[in-house]
Amino acid sequence: MSAPRKIIIDTDPGQDDAVAILLALASPELEILGITAVAGNVPLPLTEKNARKICELAGKPETRVYAGAARPMVRSLVTAEHVHGRTGLDGPDLPEPSMPLQEGHAVDFIVETLMAEPQGAVTLCPLGPLTNIALALIREPRIATRIKEIVLMGGGFFEGGNVTPAAEFNIYVDPHAADVVFRSGVPIVMMPLDVTHKALTTAARVEAFRRLGTPVGHATAALLEFFERFDEEKYGTDGGPLHDPCVIAYLLKPELFKGRHCNVTVEIASELTMGMTVIDWWGVSGRPKNAQVMRYIDDEGFFDLLVERLARL
Ligand code: BDR
Ligand code: CA
Repeated sequence: MSAPRKIIIDTDPGQDDAVAILLALASPELEILGITAVAGNVPLPLTEKNARKICELAGKPETRVYAGAARPMVRSLVTAEHVHGRTGLDGPDLPEPSMPLQEGHAVDFIVETLMAEPQGAVTLCPLGPLTNIALALIREPRIATRIKEIVLMGGGFFEGGNVTPAAEFNIYVDPHAADVVFRSGVPIVMMPLDVTHKALTTAARVEAFRRLGTPVGHATAALLEFFERFDEEKYGTDGGPLHDPCVIAYLLKPELFKGRHCNVTVEIASELTMGMTVIDWWGVSGRPKNAQVMRYIDDEGFFDLLVERLARL
């Protein structure tokens, strides 16, 4: 096997973030240099703690977890306890973590790591609002040419939004940060709602995690059963969209996804459409292409990969 791909996961766990982290920790093709927490689904003190809970659940307490931005760059923090529960990880009964939070700020960790590692060696994997990533790009602009690529979950176009009719949660919470990232010139792969709404946690798929018979399998089933209840009612589907693991699955098996290289511009002016990702799918704007926008997923292959990998933990 070739050398593992070096990644930093930036996250606001969140049940689906948790499954993404488990998938990464279970996969020898990836070397997680660190996990950086950001405020999003729940406030920062909970997201950083939740990241540590998941590392311990996976039996990887040596993973480095850093706390980052406690609020978006310009707007007030909007959270999503109505989806994720009060803790952000409602569902299973996970113990308080005993592994430490790293000293130092997540933004410093991102900058220092990118400056120390060889050019093009590190991939950033944002699973929440893009505050930490934008702050790192502002703090040290030289990192823009050192990042291999940014593979992120966020946005939506054909599916519209999930927090407003126009905007997806991660982009809506910090649209100004998203604007910085999409204008940065860094190669971007985007997993919008157009993909994740096709990756549904059906009852049979949740059962496959439970059948693993391991603590990770049981916890994953409990996380997903809690997480999907809100979206099942909202969308009338069997299961809810499993958003964030699409990012990690892409690193492992890019052939599961299909999309198009497009211009993506983030709305930061109109309150009505604040945080909308305006995706020029048909190439009508003449604006430069800045992101590989995914639209289709092999959802069976995606869940097979998840079960196969989580079985290793
Ligand atoms: C995104 O928002 C969060 O609630 C999820 O964790 C995911 O990252 C989906 O819109
Ligand atoms: Ca998330």
